[in-house]
Amino acid sequence: MDCKLSKDFPFEVVILNTKENPEIKDYLDDDQISFARVGSKRYFFPKEFLTLAPSIYNMALRSDDTFVVTFPKSGTTMTQELVWIVCNNSDYENAKSTALSTRFPFLELPSMVRKVPCTENGIEILKKLIVPLTIKEVEEMPSPRFIKSHLPLSLLPPSLLDKTKVVYVARDPRDVAVSYYYHDKLLNLTKPENDFKHYWKYFVSDNISFGPYFEHVLEAWKKRNHPNMLFLFYEEITKDLPRSIQRVANFFGKTISDDQVNKLADHMDFDNFKKNKSVNKESLQDIGIFRSDGAFIRKGKSGGWRDYFDAVMSAQADEWIAKNLQGTDFRFPHC
Ligand code: A3P
Repeated sequence: MDCKLSKDFPFEVVILNTKENPEIKDYLDDDQISFARVGSKRYFFPKEFLTLAPSIYNMALRSDDTFVVTFPKSGTTMTQELVWIVCNNSDYENAKSTALSTRFPFLELPSMVRKVPCTENGIEILKKLIVPLTIKEVEEMPSPRFIKSHLPLSLLPPSLLDKTKVVYVARDPRDVAVSYYYHDKLLNLTKPENDFKHYWKYFVSDNISFGPYFEHVLEAWKKRNHPNMLFLFYEEITKDLPRSIQRVANFFGKTISDDQVNKLADHMDFDNFKKNKSVNKESLQDIGIFRSDGAFIRKGKSGGWRDYFDAVMSAQADEWIAKNLQGTDFRFPHC
């Protein structure tokens, strides 16, 4: 265990020793990896995150930057594409020819790369596939920049909302957990014998990267009325795509015709999205980073969690959600 505070990154950091935290070791299919808890909210990260955290926290922002910020598996990818198309005057040609991960890079990705084939040069493989990849490359991107992050607002630059526009997306944590479980499976990050029941235990005990879930969501919810923040729910976006497209366009001060809205809604439609090579990360499957028996764009359903929770888990989840929402005015729109 280790505690550090620095001027560059004013958060207490606790390095987790897997011997002292056997439940983490039990979950992961990797004995080497260490984790850390960061700040008073005890955000959980692979230890490598600490090498990037200060440069992210202190990165220079530009007034025309756009961030999509989410807890993982909350509909980040579809929101990135929607925002990018709206902000780039429906440039489908570029959207098709340039991977979303290049148009809209994932800020903290280099510190999240845990398991890639031939670990030593894994980052080299990723570099060929994903440009920009490093914080320096993100810093050098031409304006306007579009940046994805799963970091909670408190770990992003403190002037984020005053300087840039932020779209935050929240999703029912039960669906997030199922989606995250399949994501970890896709990346071979969990022990194969771990079933969803096992995974849910780790999810609610905040041993999942970027968790605790509710701290993450509630931080953003508190800022939802900031003029530079648009707070959306996955369930609302997917239920009424045209309305959500219009809301995004209004937020960015863009005029969008009914025809453009309908075209974008069709582009965002789950079945079309799943086939879209610019967003579906199939290339990671082609080189073996993702397993071949799964898919990044998976089911795209709200309420699919019901197939994974038995009565006891459902009751526990209700209790966990109620406990975390106590004293807040946050409510899921669909519950
Ligand atoms: P499921 O695993 O439940 O299917 P993220 O982009 O944050 O990783 O979120 C991934 C989740 O969003 C996955 O959920 C994925 O299938 C879903 N998703 C991606 N594109 C979508 C779309 N166009 N419509 C509905 N859901 C979509």
